[in-house]
Amino acid sequence: MDLQLSGKRALVTGSSAGLGEVIARHLAAEGAAVVVHGRDEARTAAVAGSIREKGADAAVAIGDLATDAGAEEVATAALKGGPVDILVNNVGVYDPSVGWADSSSVEWAGIYNINVISSVRMIQHLVPGMRERGWGRVIQISSVLGDLPQASQPHYAATNAARNNLAASLARELKHSGVTSNAVAAGGVLTPGIQDFLTDLGRQSGWGETWEEIEPNAVNALSPNDVGRVGRPRGYADLVSYLASPLAGYITGATLRIDGGWYDA
Ligand SMILES: NC(=O)c1ccc[n+]([C@@H]2O[C@H](COP(=O)([O-])OP(=O)(O)OC[C@H]3O[C@@H](n4cnc5c(N)ncnc54)[C@H](OP(=O)(O)O)[C@@H]3O)[C@@H](O)[C@H]2O)c1
Repeated sequence: MDLQLSGKRALVTGSSAGLGEVIARHLAAEGAAVVVHGRDEARTAAVAGSIREKGADAAVAIGDLATDAGAEEVATAALKGGPVDILVNNVGVYDPSVGWADSSSVEWAGIYNINVISSVRMIQHLVPGMRERGWGRVIQISSVLGDLPQASQPHYAATNAARNNLAASLARELKHSGVTSNAVAAGGVLTPGIQDFLTDLGRQSGWGETWEEIEPNAVNALSPNDVGRVGRPRGYADLVSYLASPLAGYITGATLRIDGGWYDA
């Protein structure tokens, strides 16, 4: 399927690593020009460089989205090479080892700032231009934990409910504008960091020694789902690329869960 992304320009926040990197690479492979973003200059430049080596257009934006000044720097850098048509708000932090007893009010406020307000900052910088041009796509990456909160990392789960909620509110604000707003609520994402975390936990919990042994046990224990595995970044990137494309113009205000059918244990 031709996603008709050539001629479009996309900023993926937090694309120097993890899921955001895979999304940026996939959008570029589908023909979009991409802006790769992170705080770490070397890591961000390396991702953009390797996208360019494949013949695609990739620029770099550096900045800490936890601050207004950092977000402004990112928006300015992103707009240097042309308008931004597609904004993927992917930056987010989480820590499965934190629970109610050890998450202070400062940590609740801090994670809300990074996971929610960083997106608001980028929306406020970039969506007015999309509205003026009569076309745009805004996609929040969130987690299924927004719908299925667990006892662990309650502050993270709450930020995901907020991410889904703001995506719907923004769609109402943008009605009849040609700009859509949606959230992609992900189940587990098999990034290198998550695989390392689950491998250590699996060995300590007696789930096995190799990743092949550990994965089904980790899924059963932590994220029971009908498919029986952790989600691969590529599957999420496929959905995000479709939502970002002109083909998805009738989808707005939605939270699309992609989680293998994750259910409450
Ligand atoms: N991994 C999962 O299992 C999972 C599941 C569901 C949803 N999600 C969501 O998916 C998104 C990506 O997760 P991930 O696991 O791919 O994350 P990750 O591997 O930790 O990557 C995080 C990215 O965000 C950037 N970043 C972090 N804090 C930042 C800040 N304050 N300002 C600017 N950039 C910042 C990092 O850039 P630098 O390091 O270069 O600064 C990096 O590029 C998150 O929103 C998360 O909530 C993840």
